[in-house]
This record gives sequence, structure tokens and C-alpha cells, in this order.
Amino acid sequence: MYSIVRPLLFQLNPELAHSLGFLAARVAPVKVTSSVFRYSNSVLDQYLWGIDFTNPIGLAAGLDKNGSAVPFWASLGFGFIEVGSISAQPWPGNPKPRLFRLPADKAVINRMGLNNLGAERVAARLGKLAKGLPPLGINIVKTPDPEIEKEAAIDDFRRSFRTLVRLANYITLNVSCPNTKEGKTFEDPFALDELLKAITEERAETVRNIPILVKLSPPMFERLELDSQIDEIVSVALDRGVDGFIAGNTSTHRDGLNTPTDTLQRIGAGGLSGQPLRDRSTRLIRYLHERSEGAIPIIGVGGIATADDAYAKILAGASLLQLYTSLIYEGPGVVKKIKSGLAQLLLKDGFQNIKQAVGAQYHLPVAGRRKEAERVIALSA
Ligand SMILES: Cc1cc2nc3c(=O)[nH]c(=O)nc-3n(C[C@H](O)[C@H](O)[C@H](O)COP(=O)(O)O)c2cc1C
Repeated sequence: MYSIVRPLLFQLNPELAHSLGFLAARVAPVKVTSSVFRYSNSVLDQYLWGIDFTNPIGLAAGLDKNGSAVPFWASLGFGFIEVGSISAQPWPGNPKPRLFRLPADKAVINRMGLNNLGAERVAARLGKLAKGLPPLGINIVKTPDPEIEKEAAIDDFRRSFRTLVRLANYITLNVSCPNTKEGKTFEDPFALDELLKAITEERAETVRNIPILVKLSPPMFERLELDSQIDEIVSVALDRGVDGFIAGNTSTHRDGLNTPTDTLQRIGAGGLSGQPLRDRSTRLIRYLHERSEGAIPIIGVGGIATADDAYAKILAGASLLQLYTSLIYEGPGVVKKIKSGLAQLLLKDGFQNIKQAVGAQYHLPVAGRRKEAERVIALSA
């Protein structure tokens, strides 16, 4: 079905196609979509931070910035949904055009610039959601107003946290948006430490010990040990008791793309997502898993379009996964396809549950399993 719709959608400018798709999502009969996309297998059950996930495939932040269509994403079979990024104050984002498809790379470049309705309006909307939906992550970011600096920037983050915390199963601090200077203010390890101090204090004042995750940029270098900032971020996160990493956000890199250089130049600045990000993000997952000795769970995101892509990230150390761009290229059926393929890969390798496979690439006990893992890792090398 999506193979018929996609060429029509791709005729439209990407943001218009996105808005139409979104409109359809908001009015779609979720009973019908959930019966079409239903798939479950207990090998995919994940339990993390005291939360049950019926499967590890989540919707990445940025598609549903204002939490407008959560029941629809649930009906596609996502195991969890992350909304946002949301800032304390509403923000219009960058001027259009700000979203571009790169079909030759199954990729997207965006410079949306953190457009969102602001924490209070989104909280009012999320407060009306029915019970029984999959776990909800809420991704917050500093209001991208350059006038909000230093202490005020931390207060801004605190305000969003306070407004949204009671509605979330986990909170993500987005410190890695490449599309505004402000989006990255807190990726600096010193600034991150200050932010985490403030947010963990704020958390201590709430009733719930909600998990706090930090979303990072994909690595700038092939060899991550060249990037000293990542090691500092890991140690700050460990010291401040961060509950998880999301690895990672979109990239400003343009290396090795099939899209012609003049097209890329015409598009200009923005964050790259989709297939070209896949191995870069898997490398970051592996590095974070090793550096934190598996102590900090990781949500792996970047270029996941197949079960093999998903499995490579699990073996590298991701406990949960998210996707966005493959929905644009493959359509909503991609979630079910990845889930059923991943269940088969896990069972074939002798795992009874996904938990056993997290970071298992180095210590698979059975020779057959190691061979399979090596095949999958080779795909991502
Ligand atoms: C159009 C677009 C908007 C995005 N907006 C956000 C955002 O507001 N906050 C955020 O943390 N990530 C945002 N992301 C990044 C995604 O959550 C994800 O990290 C990235 O796209 C890599 O995953 P993918 O290759 O499956 O798309 C956005 C991505 C795209 C394509």
C-alpha cells in the first residue's frame, strides 16, 4: 500500500507531505491500523527503569513534537513513543524550506529548528491521553532563544521538566540539536554537569524518581577515542546518576553520500538522518556501552530500517531502539517488519529474551551465535 502512496507523497514538498501524513495520523481509525500492524513475541519484551516495554522499537523524537497523535503511533506497534523536543516557551523554528529528502541515500536533512508549542500547551494535550498506551518519553530542550543564557538557560530547562514530568515515563534532555546554537549549549561537559545537577535536584523534589536520559550527537570522528568530549560526557553522566543515553541525534556530516554535491550545497545546513547515519550511531552505542561498562542503558537510534540494522545496535549495546527516517522511506509497515525479523534473529541465535543479547557481541557463548553476530556486525562495519 505504501509503495503506491509514497511516489505521490514524494511529489510534494517534504514539509507539506509531512503535514498531510500527520493529518492522516490524527484522524486514522486506530482500531483498524492496530489490527493491520499487530505483532507480538515475548522474546522482544524488555524491562528497564521499572517500565515494561512490549517491544524495543520506539518512535524517535521530532516526528510528533507536540504529542498530537500518540494513539496512532501506538497503533503502528511502537513499543514506546518519544514526543518533543519541547521547550519551556513556544518556538516557531527556522524559516521554510527546512526539510529535504535525499532519496539516493534514503536520508533526510532537516533544519526545523525546534519548532514546538511550548511545555504548557503540550502538557495540557498529553494530560488528556487515555490510559493503556505504550510508555511515553518526553524530550525537552532549551528554548532556542539566544537571549536565554547561563542560569536562565538552566531555569528554562527546569521549567519544562517541572511542567512535563508527571506525564512521562522518562525524560530526555536534548543537548544535541544541530539546528540552533542553543540546541547544543549543554553538550559541553561542564555545562552538562551544571544542567544535570539542576535537573536531578528538581527530580528529587518530585514524587517520582523518573529516569533521566541524555541525547547525544553522533561522533564527529571515525575513531571515537579521538573525541575527548565523549569520555568527559560519560564520566559526568556516571557521576550525576544519569539513567540512560540516546545515541544519537542527527549529524552535520556529509561524507560518503550518493546525493550530488551541488544538491547538498543547495540544501545547505541541517542535520542528516537515515541510512548514512546507521554505522556512525552503532559505533557510538558500542563506545558508550564499553566506556560505561554496560552501567548506563542506551537507546540506539540512527538509520534503522531493517531487522539486521536493529540487531547490530542491540549486539553493540543498545537496550531499546528508535526510528524516524525509515518511516518516510518504508512506510508504517516497517515497525512490524523490524519486530518480526528481530525476533527471528534473536531466537535463531538461541536468545530467549532480547536482554541477553544487549552488548553480546563480545561474549557470545556458542560458536554458532558468534558467527551470526559477526555477520550482522560486519554489515554495520
Ligand atoms: C525532521 C526531523 C526532526 C527532528 N527533530 C528532533 C527533535 O526535535 N528532537 C530530537 O531529539 N531529535 C530530533 N530528530 C532526530 C531523531 O529523533 C533521530 O535522532 C534521528 O533522526 C536519527 O534517527 P533516524 O535515522 O531513524 O531518523 C529529528 C529528526 C528529523 C528527521
